[in-house]
Amino acid sequence: MNADTVQRGLLIAFEGIDGSGKSSHLRWLAAYLRGQGLSVVETREPTDGAYGQCIRNLFTNRKKLSPEEELELFLLDRKEHVAQCINPALAAGQIVLTDRYYFSSVAYQGAAGMNPVAIFAKNAFAPEPDMVLLLRVSPQEGLRRIREQRCEHPNDFEQEEQLIKVDRLFASFPQSYIKRIDNSANRDKVQAYIRQLVRELCCARGFACQ
Ligand code: TYD
Repeated sequence: MNADTVQRGLLIAFEGIDGSGKSSHLRWLAAYLRGQGLSVVETREPTDGAYGQCIRNLFTNRKKLSPEEELELFLLDRKEHVAQCINPALAAGQIVLTDRYYFSSVAYQGAAGMNPVAIFAKNAFAPEPDMVLLLRVSPQEGLRRIREQRCEHPNDFEQEEQLIKVDRLFASFPQSYIKRIDNSANRDKVQAYIRQLVRELCCARGFACQ
């Protein structure tokens, strides 16, 4: 098979408020898919690139930037992410699992006061995902998990009032490929459900699956 005939890969984004369990479920799904013989790329936003690192430095003092400046940084980080990681992996036929994508910009920068429709429009350069796994826990539970399980103090993006707004925006997105998953349930059951959803997607798109 030459480069022109390689089947396009799949893009699956994990989204949710802080403490919703995205990162763990992404890791478990990646291991499962690799066990099925599929080629998987695990990635995340903010990335580990220059813009991503700049964003991580903001975590401890969000007020340094306006919401507009903050969005601009997330967009620069995402442009680099799409160009350097996501698009090449999709072109090579791989399954890309990203921990956060542009829905986080709409939810978080939307909660900070920017217009959600305008944020979606600014992300038109980014390929639409094939599936979004939106993990849901209550903002109170998310913050409890950050404090107790990660032994961290919530950062400036993680204040309760803010997370309630973020959660509402995530809940309002209309795209049919967004799968809402209650992650307050037993984690094995949640993982089994995620596997089932992704297996169905893989089968529908002609990827080997059992
Ligand atoms: P997070 O997934 O918590 O990073 P990590 O677990 O690797 O530390 O993401 C960091 C924060 O960035 C999170 O609170 C949400 C916020 N964020 C935005 O506000 N806009 C965005 O576009 C993205 C991708 C993240």
